[in-house]
Amino acid sequence: MKEKIIVTGANGQLAFHFMALSPSYTQYDFEFLTSKDLNLEDSDALNDYFSKNSCAYVINCAAYTQVDAAESNQKVCDTINHQAVKLLGSLALAYHFKLIHFSTDFVFDGLAHSPYREEDTTNPRSIYGETKLLGEKALQIISKEQSDQFYAIIRTSWVYSFYGKNFYNTMKRLASERSSLNVVIDQVGTPTYAHDLAKFILDFLPHLIQNDVYHFSNQGVCSWYDFANEIIDLHQLPCAVAPILSKDYPTAASRPHYSVLDKTKLNSKFSFIPNHWKKSLYQCFQDSSRITL
Ligand SMILES: NC(=O)c1ccc[n+]([C@@H]2O[C@H](COP(=O)([O-])OP(=O)(O)OC[C@H]3O[C@@H](n4cnc5c(N)ncnc54)[C@H](OP(=O)(O)O)[C@@H]3O)[C@@H](O)[C@H]2O)c1
Repeated sequence: MKEKIIVTGANGQLAFHFMALSPSYTQYDFEFLTSKDLNLEDSDALNDYFSKNSCAYVINCAAYTQVDAAESNQKVCDTINHQAVKLLGSLALAYHFKLIHFSTDFVFDGLAHSPYREEDTTNPRSIYGETKLLGEKALQIISKEQSDQFYAIIRTSWVYSFYGKNFYNTMKRLASERSSLNVVIDQVGTPTYAHDLAKFILDFLPHLIQNDVYHFSNQGVCSWYDFANEIIDLHQLPCAVAPILSKDYPTAASRPHYSVLDKTKLNSKFSFIPNHWKKSLYQCFQDSSRITL
């Protein structure tokens, strides 16, 4: 019998790529749930849903991802990114499903000068980062009380796609409307093509469930300025990009200046090395004309 995978947050960009890949993974039956189908703010709805629907895996793509709005919406952000994850952890044990959960480079303060390893000290500087870290910790606390292997936490960074709200689509749109753009150069990290992350999860699914944290992004290092230039060049848009400093682009939430994730563990545990970010960006560009939305 096929194992069933439930994917939450089905309207989001990462869930979109699980959906696009799902026909190739015939060993699984997929069910995609939007926020209307399953609202993570509603603990009764979560309890009720899993008491009536069984599955082998839940891939939790749902999250409160509006980083700046989170600064003034702490409660709802905590409910979705922390309390709901804690409840999903308990439900995973009660109803015997495995949970794939995503976290973020924002759990770090960005003061490092070398790639962050999974075990490095966390120190979030934003409400979004803080609530995502509390979600991680909730799963770790639950796992200490019993012996089942029931979850994996995947921290990722700078996720983009040709689908959804993200930097790639924003740059494409702005660069086709304007002749020049200012983009920050003093925030450095690594982009992650959502397709690459979704494919990695589906390829390694049974083996990921070790009650552990993994870092996943593409390879290489760039600034948002570099990333913007590459996107604009690829689309041959006649728009000049000027580098600016974060202090000249104030945002409600503080962003890490350095958030490169160390992926050594992916290689040592799964012999997996992600693509370089420029290669994946080119793939995204090609996929956008191949896959219909
Ligand atoms: N985007 C990034 O750069 C980035 C970086 C690091 C980590 N991550 C993590 O990666 C994961 C996937 O993010 P993404 O980029 O795919 O985000 P996204 O495109 O913003 O999608 C998030 C989804 O969560 C859903 N959602 C929000 N509130 C919900 C609720 N109360 N109940 C159920 N669903 C709800 C949204 O539904 P509606 O559309 O209906 O509102 C949306 O479809 C998240 O855990 C995120 O924290 C993302």
